[in-house]
Amino acid sequence: MPNSNTAHLDTLLQHTGVAPFDPATGAAPVALPAMRTSTVRFQSLDALDRAQAGKARGERKATYGRVGMDTHAALEDVFCELEGAERAFLASSGLAAITLAFFSILSSRDHVLVADCAYGPVRYLDKTVLGRMDIQVSYCRATPAELEAQLRPNTRVLYVESPGSLLFEMLDIPALAAFARKHDLILAVDNTWGSGYIYRPLELGADISVVAGTKYVGGHSDLMLGAVMASDPGLIKRINDTHYAMGYSISADDAWLALRGARTLPIRMRQSAQNALEVCEFLKARPEVARIYHPALPEDAGHAIWKRDCTGSNGMLAVELKLDNAAARRFVDALALFGIGFSWGGFESLVQLVDHAALQVHGYWSKNDHAVVRLHIGLESPQDLIADLTQALGMAVA
Ligand SMILES: Cc1ncc(COP(=O)(O)O)c(C=O)c1O
Repeated sequence: MPNSNTAHLDTLLQHTGVAPFDPATGAAPVALPAMRTSTVRFQSLDALDRAQAGKARGERKATYGRVGMDTHAALEDVFCELEGAERAFLASSGLAAITLAFFSILSSRDHVLVADCAYGPVRYLDKTVLGRMDIQVSYCRATPAELEAQLRPNTRVLYVESPGSLLFEMLDIPALAAFARKHDLILAVDNTWGSGYIYRPLELGADISVVAGTKYVGGHSDLMLGAVMASDPGLIKRINDTHYAMGYSISADDAWLALRGARTLPIRMRQSAQNALEVCEFLKARPEVARIYHPALPEDAGHAIWKRDCTGSNGMLAVELKLDNAAARRFVDALALFGIGFSWGGFESLVQLVDHAALQVHGYWSKNDHAVVRLHIGLESPQDLIADLTQALGMAVA
């Protein structure tokens, strides 16, 4: 394997998690097969004892199928390379990974500060499960000053997402990490937007990074996957224990699909980002557009932080349209190349008409009457996407 310290991530993504050579034949498949098994058999009790002892030391040793075999281990290695982490733990969806992070670091009567721009279903997790476990949650803008005002003696964790969901508010992770260190908090970051390829929160001072591999890592809208990454030995142990105790597990087939997706992550993400910038340039010139949210644009409020902390961008953007709700609905319905749907990070373009109720909780939102659409710009020709947007805007205002 190339040296992680010197090789480019594009290279590491092609050479991490590959099949080892068979000592008997000196050959190996280029693509690691999906190793489907529900359990492991050992040649002798000594061999089993050695595996158990390694496991007790915190090493990745499979003695049963739930933790997964080589395909899973290869995908974990890929997530470690992406995020610059020591260990990665897999879960069956991005939201499952968020719950793994929360359950690993929170106990009953603890208080957690959550960025108000974090992925909406975190609030649902709070309402339905965390509250029942007497875990207290407060939401606010993720700036040290606003967070400071919400601190309680039992605050243990700061959980954020950068850039934030829906409006892509860039957070100052190094400043938040300093704040977390000062107040002895664990800083966990949802890094699905960056997916390790263009943004590495652990290197910016975060303790835990969470990624929905469902999006850019999988990249083909055909699997659900989550991962939790960390480097601190104490945290790794807590996540490892929780992962095992709660039975988080993914199928070998999904691990295989995600591994395959990760090989082309660099070119997919770069192309989506380039297409998105072309679409932004088009939108900027349209009279119906009031504001574009995309941190790679120089006029975006988070551009300076994006430039400092990120190595690239992706296909996500939000647009405020000077349209009433009926016209915005006509616009979305008229789009032919954009599927109406919630996800992102796949090959295809998607559109979501954002509910104002979901925006009200974001301190970053300027609370106006404009319709807001979130676009995921996929791998179609940007000229075709622009033509589609042009005709749909025409339908909206007709
Ligand atoms: C930022 C972010 N985090 C987490 C998730 C959850 O991922 P999953 O759908 O795999 O549960 C999503 C899904 O849209 C997301 O956008």
